[in-house]
Amino acid sequence: MKETIQELHELKRKKNAIILAHIYQLPEIQDIADFVGDSLDLSKKTQQVDADIIVFCGVHFMAETASILNPNKKIILPELNAMCPMANMINAQKLKTIKSKYTNPIVVSYINTSADIKAESNICCTSSNAINVVKSIPKNKEIIFIPDRNLGAYVQKMSGIKMYLYDGFCPTHNNFILPNHILKLKKQYPLAKVLVHPECRLEVISLADKAMSTSQMCQYVSLSKHKEFIIGTETGILHRLQKENPQKKFYAASTLATCPNMKKITLEKILSVLINETNVIKISKTIRNKAYLPLAKMTEIMPCNIY
Ligand code: 13P
Ligand code: SF4
Repeated sequence: MKETIQELHELKRKKNAIILAHIYQLPEIQDIADFVGDSLDLSKKTQQVDADIIVFCGVHFMAETASILNPNKKIILPELNAMCPMANMINAQKLKTIKSKYTNPIVVSYINTSADIKAESNICCTSSNAINVVKSIPKNKEIIFIPDRNLGAYVQKMSGIKMYLYDGFCPTHNNFILPNHILKLKKQYPLAKVLVHPECRLEVISLADKAMSTSQMCQYVSLSKHKEFIIGTETGILHRLQKENPQKKFYAASTLATCPNMKKITLEKILSVLINETNVIKISKTIRNKAYLPLAKMTEIMPCNIY
């Protein structure tokens, strides 16, 4: 492992490459990454770094987003089969059918969607800015929110804005973080603050102190005077939380909440793609030009306040 890491660092320098990792990645990947963040942070970072190659350790839609935003950089995904099942729950044909039932609707698509879905959308959002994105839409417009019904329901509740919600969901958050998990841990650790991701069911969110994106959780924890936290999201985040806050205690709402796709990336795969420059993400110019617009629109919107 030590040699692999050393070789990676040398190659990065030689090729002017950078490694970005999502907070759900395996601990050893987070530790060698140049930057670890949530979906919004990572999209922004791809545009800020002066690199010829970006090795994106995350799932396919994230690398695709990086490629849409940076057509002149080589975006490499170490494992092309690292797919987000929620993103795959909708396709362009299904979206066109839904759109055809409305007159000039605004399609808000969660960043967890493929490039061809973004190309059919008006504005994107992530879990950290979704409420502000929806609030930015003129009041007289009908909104189609895709694909996460849980994030959509949460945004609807917080903003008071009614939307059509597509019936997609994240299997990790929806199926493995349940109200009884939170209730049991709250009883066991009554002083702990409960933080959950808005991809969780609304019944889970209602039991939490806060719903927020993964980076917002990290920020909240480091600023908080509380010492114990129940964390309702993919368990990969615990590595970073514990590393940055060694004096605080973290309890996974459910140890079953892991995303198998996020865990498909290994140090060996990163080394191999960096040596061979394979797994480069390619998007047609027509789709890219269309998909860029909702992403650019999103960047004008601020993340939501975590307090
Ligand atoms: P954030 O990191 O933006 O909170 O999103 C979580 C997620 O599920 C990414 O797939
Ligand atoms: Fe997709 Fe859920 Fe995995 Fe995120 S955690 S990549 S939403 S399946």
